[in-house]
Amino acid sequence: MKKRRFAIGTVLFLAGCCEPFTPGSSDAGDDDREVPEDELALDRRPYLGSVSQEGATISFRTNGICSGAARVGPSPEETRLVTDEGKHRRHEIRVDGLAPATTYCYWVEGNGKRLSEPRIFRTAAPPGTPFRFAAFGDSGSGDESQFAVAAAMARAEPDLVIHLGDVIYPAGEAELWDERFFEPYAAMLERIPFYAAIGNHDLMTGNGAPYLDALALPANNPLSTERFYSFDWGDVHFVCLDSNIVGEDCPEEEAQYEWLANDLANATRRWKIAYFHHPLYGCVGSRQSGNEKRRKLLEPLLVEGGVDLVLVGHDHHYVRTKRERGIVHVVSGGGGKSLYDGEPRDHTEVFRKAFHFVRVDVTPDTLEVVAIGAPGEEEIDRFRVEGE
Ligand SMILES: [Fe+2]
Repeated sequence: MKKRRFAIGTVLFLAGCCEPFTPGSSDAGDDDREVPEDELALDRRPYLGSVSQEGATISFRTNGICSGAARVGPSPEETRLVTDEGKHRRHEIRVDGLAPATTYCYWVEGNGKRLSEPRIFRTAAPPGTPFRFAAFGDSGSGDESQFAVAAAMARAEPDLVIHLGDVIYPAGEAELWDERFFEPYAAMLERIPFYAAIGNHDLMTGNGAPYLDALALPANNPLSTERFYSFDWGDVHFVCLDSNIVGEDCPEEEAQYEWLANDLANATRRWKIAYFHHPLYGCVGSRQSGNEKRRKLLEPLLVEGGVDLVLVGHDHHYVRTKRERGIVHVVSGGGGKSLYDGEPRDHTEVFRKAFHFVRVDVTPDTLEVVAIGAPGEEEIDRFRVEGE
């Protein structure tokens, strides 16, 4: 299945000051290169995205164009074939009709030839089922620190991972995605889904086209864009926003606000967790006016919508705020890019300059949040959001 393409009209382009959204079809890694049949192979291993209770997207890339397919089933002996449309190098195959909280076996094929070993993944849990997720941001340096955080996170065995943006430094380049995303997280990507919020650095190449090409994210909004979306897992309704457009006075910004208010009003899960790239409450002195601008525009919608927890990146350290208008905000920007100093402020409960990720254990009654440093896996913060 190819990504849905969103073409924005000239009128919209002229009306706002932010660049029109890129559909994620730059064709980087999806050229017409052909290879002899016996040389056909993967040049990016299969990875999971948009896993729901009923479906999953399996993506992979081949060294030449071919008809892509995935075999999926409860066991290696009991699979069905799901095929891609047309011939490509970059394949994105949507598998539907799966059962909730169920383990499936899968592998991928090109022109009918098996290209990967069997792996397993598990569909999303229904409400009432405890689960664990990890969140982190600002990672794509290719440095030792990035690999240390990745290893610690893999050991935590999350059911899904949320990336808080700035996936690839310095500028979201397509050719750095393998070295700075697919390789560091390889052990997790083949069995659990990564979700992400687009960061400012991810936009610097092709207005985010390599990011949108690489990731298979939900696009459940009127613009059919993967830059903001929501999904459910267990007792959580997750909402991802594009904070780059907040305060930009463009039609996409308005569309996002309208969608967000509706999305939160209609969410049925016990917990609501919002995530995006830029903090509303941060500890970097020079960024306070940007934080305040976004706080003014976004916070009323998050409060009104009953959000319990906000996760962001952008500032390269760890911050937990006091409960601000009913919401705890966590800055988790220590995923691997060089760390920032910070100045704790009135709203700051905990500040730590450290590489880390955040682990969240969800039950119907509690969100148990632990910030874990890397390397060393020191516990740098722990708090609970309790049911009322
Ligand atoms: Fe950033």
